[in-house]
Amino acid sequence: MVSSSMQTKILKVDSRCPQLELIEDAAALLRAGETVVFPTETVYGLGANGLDEKAAAKIYTAKGRPSDNPLILHIADEAQVTALVTEIPVAAQKLIQAFWPGPLTLIFKKRPVVPAIVSGGLATVALRMPSHAVARALIAAADVPVAAPSANLSGRPSPTRPQHVIEDMAGRVAAILTCEEAPIGLESTVVDVSAEVPTLLRPGGISLTELQAVVPELVIDRGVIAKNQVERPKSPGMKYTHYAPRGEMVIVRGSDEEKLKKILAAVETNSDWALLVSAETARNYQAVLDPTHIVVLASRENPVAMARNLFDKLRYFDELGATHIYAEDIDLTPATLALVNRLHKAAGHRFI
Ligand code: TXA
Ligand code: MG
Repeated sequence: MVSSSMQTKILKVDSRCPQLELIEDAAALLRAGETVVFPTETVYGLGANGLDEKAAAKIYTAKGRPSDNPLILHIADEAQVTALVTEIPVAAQKLIQAFWPGPLTLIFKKRPVVPAIVSGGLATVALRMPSHAVARALIAAADVPVAAPSANLSGRPSPTRPQHVIEDMAGRVAAILTCEEAPIGLESTVVDVSAEVPTLLRPGGISLTELQAVVPELVIDRGVIAKNQVERPKSPGMKYTHYAPRGEMVIVRGSDEEKLKKILAAVETNSDWALLVSAETARNYQAVLDPTHIVVLASRENPVAMARNLFDKLRYFDELGATHIYAEDIDLTPATLALVNRLHKAAGHRFI
């Protein structure tokens, strides 16, 4: 573990019009081999020069993350791709055309210039061109591919708001660029285009429906929906416990009445409980239970807001000191695949 004694510059940036001098300050730190936390449209990232082994190693130390979990290289310009990968298959070209810049990460066969510490020792590398103005300005100014995982301490929910990154990373990185909350709130979609058939490894900001509209042959990796992963997942990050609040979370299923009954029975046996519910059902619980333990995610009708709020609410459970968390299940639709994936992972796939 790293000591939390590093001086961290906190730089507040305007996302509509990033201040050049702040961006240049942070980019100089990246060029000097230091770590910088920056906002993206999905979640905040913890960046370092992705072609510098020593710099990339600092990411793992700051996060307390096992170094066999590969990192995404963030680029600002499509022209950077050819220097990093050996081939750009047709499916990749179509996906780049349709979704870059944006919340889509593509896995390619890597060139030797990509250090093993970035690729986790794999023969492939993950690339993403974010659309967030601050991320783009920073990567362009640094003039190197920026390796960046989500900027949370390993095992904690991904950071979507300035206070999350300050909580987790102050004292562990050279600088933190903050602006408003991340507009999407869930990590990017990961698609392996190095495989014979393009394969969805992690659902995210771009939905399956959107992907298949561009690449109809695209398939979903079994690891995305599997409850108990026996095989080694293709995306190494899928094997770690992620996104989890400190308390034990379970997903509650059934009709609204059944859920209410199950929750009433469950909370009787412990005092440090909390609920994660929809705006539509909140009143049912508030009528019979202590409202300070009831956390509203968003309206069921609004998957975008549910996604944007999820990680923030998971962190809030830690603040509440909740030891037992009961979360209403969310209906699985093409628009909620990523959200349901993160929710079920946070609960360790426990259901009642
Ligand atoms: O939205 C995002 O993707 C955010 C922002 C900061 O860009 N980044 C992010 O990074 O979520 P991270 O490290 O938390 O997740 C990257 C995922 C992991 O599941 C990792 O295993 C997978 O991508 N990955 C990276 N390189 C890979 C590779 N070569 N093959 C398969 N999976 C890979
Ligand atoms: Mg992560």
